[in-house]
Amino acid sequence: MGLGSNSSMRVEWVAAISLAAGAAAVGYLAYTRFLSKDKCCKAMVNLHIQKDNPKVVHAFDMEDLGEKAVYCRCWRSKKFPVCDGSHTKHNDETGDNVGPLIIKRKEA
Ligand code: FES
Repeated sequence: MGLGSNSSMRVEWVAAISLAAGAAAVGYLAYTRFLSKDKCCKAMVNLHIQKDNPKVVHAFDMEDLGEKAVYCRCWRSKKFPVCDGSHTKHNDETGDNVGPLIIKRKEA
């Protein structure tokens, strides 16, 4: 074996290591993009409402609801938590199918 043979073997090792490193990088990127359950990659439901609060909560007394109350479930209403019909635009733009929560008294 001469000096040229060692050099050739070194090139093959460098190529093999480069290929393995590239495959590992592609595998890692695919894992983080498609399989990882990290919080950072999940979509948020609430895009605008009270973002400075750790949790958005509304409470109403049943006696104050009147005959009918319509509450937003799409988080796009300008009058949140009351539905203002913004879910229609959201559904048209996204293909979603969300609608309001309607609470009403039974008709006697
Ligand atoms: S505006 Fe959100 S459900 Fe109607």
